[in-house]
Amino acid sequence: MSPLHGKHIVLGICGGIAAYKSVSLLRLLVKAGAEVQVVITPAGKEFITPVTLSALSQKPVVSEFFTANTGEWHSHVDLGLWADCMVIAPATASSIGKMAHGIADNMLITTYLSAKSPVFLAPAMDLDMMAHPSTQANLKLLKSYGNHIIEPEVGYLASGLIGKGRMEEPEKIVEALEKFFVRSQDMKGRKVLITAGPTYEKIDPVRFIGNYSSGKMGYALADECASRGAEVTVVSGPVSIIPGNPDVAVVSVESAREMLAECEQRFPDTDVAIMCAAVADYAPAEVADAKIKREHQDVPVIRLVKNPDIARTLGQVKKAGQTLVGFALETDHEIENATEKLARKNLDMIVLNSMRDKGAGFGTDTNKIAIITPDGCRADFPLKSKADVAKDIVDKILSLKN
Ligand code: C5P
Repeated sequence: MSPLHGKHIVLGICGGIAAYKSVSLLRLLVKAGAEVQVVITPAGKEFITPVTLSALSQKPVVSEFFTANTGEWHSHVDLGLWADCMVIAPATASSIGKMAHGIADNMLITTYLSAKSPVFLAPAMDLDMMAHPSTQANLKLLKSYGNHIIEPEVGYLASGLIGKGRMEEPEKIVEALEKFFVRSQDMKGRKVLITAGPTYEKIDPVRFIGNYSSGKMGYALADECASRGAEVTVVSGPVSIIPGNPDVAVVSVESAREMLAECEQRFPDTDVAIMCAAVADYAPAEVADAKIKREHQDVPVIRLVKNPDIARTLGQVKKAGQTLVGFALETDHEIENATEKLARKNLDMIVLNSMRDKGAGFGTDTNKIAIITPDGCRADFPLKSKADVAKDIVDKILSLKN
């Protein structure tokens, strides 16, 4: 049975040539067992008639705020609450702009603004409109609000030109929705522990040894696991971000030793532990009680001691059924180093970042990873947003036989 079976879907149709494909999309959604309510913009009706759409959805198509002859009000609020998901296909440049800026001048945009459910957009327009900085900025804004963009394809456009702007094929849109609904539950019942951010190792009351880790990758993983139904705790070093998902629990720590203590306590009750923190390798052997003053001494020498390896400590007590994932940020001999760490720390998989890859590593919003497993398999991924990288990592965790 399709994961869309029984789902309430609002299908938003804007005014573009690709609206003819919305008919097939509607047909496929209904065939998959979804209950579909079509909302069409006034311009959309110039391209496809509500008669066809209502016949296929077996519901009157909504377009206006009121039915002219009865004065009946169509509640966008009710529709927004009813929907398990909203998919806007085609999403035109104009509607994308209105959605991004809250210009609620038609039923489709008001429904979008009222929607509590996930929203998917399948843009369709001419290649230059698609590439225009304003369209790109609006899409970026919509993505930052949590909307899902189903990227258009490169191909023949109604203008006769060839380029990026063709609405994704209806079958592919259905596939994306199905994947989303499967993913929304596939971590249900699992307890996930994630370490994130840097650690600060105190020198004196005002100074520390730290690193540039932003915590973004760890928090993206936490949000991804929580959105897929897991119970997530992040043991986090000092960062300036918070989880996007309010269900993620955060335990704030400062040093590697504090991080280890919190992890050791929680690990026995954990199904999946993801070691994403950039843990300081060394800490000052002594912490000065008072601020070390420049005037009163020669250049101070800070003696360092080794910090505990949290991943390795957990690896030593790992039981059957528990999955332990580590990261390796390498500058050279990437594969050899990562593979060695995988074995030494008794990990089930290791996520490799190379400092040589542009856009990967500390502080960025993107990452480029390879995943290595103990069977020697290696999967390489292209540069993606950290949110999308988190999806790939969680997919891989779920595919491990444990
Ligand atoms: O040995 P290295 O620091 O490169 O290993 C990186 C992996 O080990 C990461 O998953 C990191 O979170 C984890 N780690 C740890 N405790 C340490 C050092 C690294 O958990 N003290």
